[in-house]
Amino acid sequence: MTEKLYIFDTTLRDGEQSAGIGFTIEDKVEIARALQRMNVDIIEAGFPVSSPGDLEAVSRIAREIKGPIIAGLARAAAGDIDACWEAVRHAETPRIHVFISTSDVHMANQLRKNKEDVIEMVRAAVSRAASYTSDVEFSPMDASRSDRDFIFQVLEAAIEEGATTLNIPDTVGYAIPAEFGQLVADIMNRVKGIEKTRISVHCHNDLGMATANSLAGVLNGARQVEGAINGIGERAGNTAIEEIIMAVRTRPDFLGVHTDVNTKEIYATSRLVERVSGMAVQSNKAIVGKNAFRHSSGIHQDGVLKMRETYEIINPADVGAPTTGGIVLTKVSGRHGLRARLDELGAQLTDEEFERVFESFKEVADHRDEVDDRDLEAILAEQTSVQAAEQWVLDLVQVSAGDRTSPTATVRIIGPDGVAHEDAAIGSGPVDAIYQVINRVMGVQNELTEFSVKSVTEGIDAQGEVTIRIEAEGGSYTGRAADTDILVASARAYLHALNRYLNAVQPRVTTTA
Ligand code: KIV
Ligand code: ZN
Repeated sequence: MTEKLYIFDTTLRDGEQSAGIGFTIEDKVEIARALQRMNVDIIEAGFPVSSPGDLEAVSRIAREIKGPIIAGLARAAAGDIDACWEAVRHAETPRIHVFISTSDVHMANQLRKNKEDVIEMVRAAVSRAASYTSDVEFSPMDASRSDRDFIFQVLEAAIEEGATTLNIPDTVGYAIPAEFGQLVADIMNRVKGIEKTRISVHCHNDLGMATANSLAGVLNGARQVEGAINGIGERAGNTAIEEIIMAVRTRPDFLGVHTDVNTKEIYATSRLVERVSGMAVQSNKAIVGKNAFRHSSGIHQDGVLKMRETYEIINPADVGAPTTGGIVLTKVSGRHGLRARLDELGAQLTDEEFERVFESFKEVADHRDEVDDRDLEAILAEQTSVQAAEQWVLDLVQVSAGDRTSPTATVRIIGPDGVAHEDAAIGSGPVDAIYQVINRVMGVQNELTEFSVKSVTEGIDAQGEVTIRIEAEGGSYTGRAADTDILVASARAYLHALNRYLNAVQPRVTTTA
């Protein structure tokens, strides 16, 4: 049996540090549940001292998510460590992750501390964390640009004070694989007491080498890899954790390790993170991109039809990616057929959710010859989970637009009290007109900061998926909706974001969807 590689997911911490992402507590819990289904080993749930909301999110995840270790991040400061413990202490297995910068450029210009100060801070912080829990991770931030001998000293101090996992970050994505692998090898060979600990790697993707650097670390002895779903994270992001998991599964002959991840949950988790973060996954993204298992050229299609392995190194079913399946869904399909296909896709729906999905399916099927898995995913994304907590529901949208007329929208929305509110407005364009009416009716002060439309499938009859982001009272809220009419999708996406904002600031009212 090969050695185990521990999978440390930081979607909820470093991933949330992506510009433009702001998860609500509900979002975080929902993603943590998906990570639990994936069976990752460690979930870094947040940075508790950074805000009361993050402390609450980490402590909810610590209470609710059983199985994975629940970690929280803390700077090498007493207040951070105490807040972190306050949040993670409810977990079955809590971890405190302490970090401090060790590169000259960070120590001199950001921390304004010398090497002796930093070693003292490491000792104080790690021993404080170890007084709370026996599971302490320590990271020398910017390790790949730090003086080697100093890193060895810092790591030895952390081990002496009780650190059990030593994480080596390539914080700014500067390393080259052979160089980063050598750093891990040197740490393995030179740091006293290293055999009592597990080495972890945490790579950023500024030069597009995060996965390669992480695997170089693994080849040199690292047994934990940190990363985020879809590779989200600071700047160009973190290592895409699904790439590590599938590299290890596809090439055990070379990498010589295994993970305990349930790979069939990867695709659904990726879609959830895409939906909730509002950060679209590029079509050619490895493992989870829309094109990852699609073959376009005649030669490739011919090969795959004769034998899948000719051009596919991963079976899409192994990551839970949708395939064409045996069932063709059209407007004459009934509940049975839809239920069977949804089961194959692994969707777990309540009866109420299924009925909403069925209604949307019928609407889409009315406009298309065939409803494929991508349509179903778009419907599922809109009709389940977070969407269910709607306070305001769209009842009607009518738009008049063209090159010789002022775009005018009439919109009717049902409020939380069940009362219909209808109004009309003229806008600079049809979407602007719709949004003006919604703003007038709901009166929520917000700024629209992102708006994008993409086609779910090919063809003129395809559904358009609209993703938007609004900023309200310092928070950021995404909304998403799909419809064959992109103006209807735009209206629903806006209401989705506004409902999410209202759910975050007010207790929920009854579901009227
Ligand atoms: O990139 C980094 O160095 C980090 C540390 C906090 C581990 O995210
Ligand atoms: Zn990082």
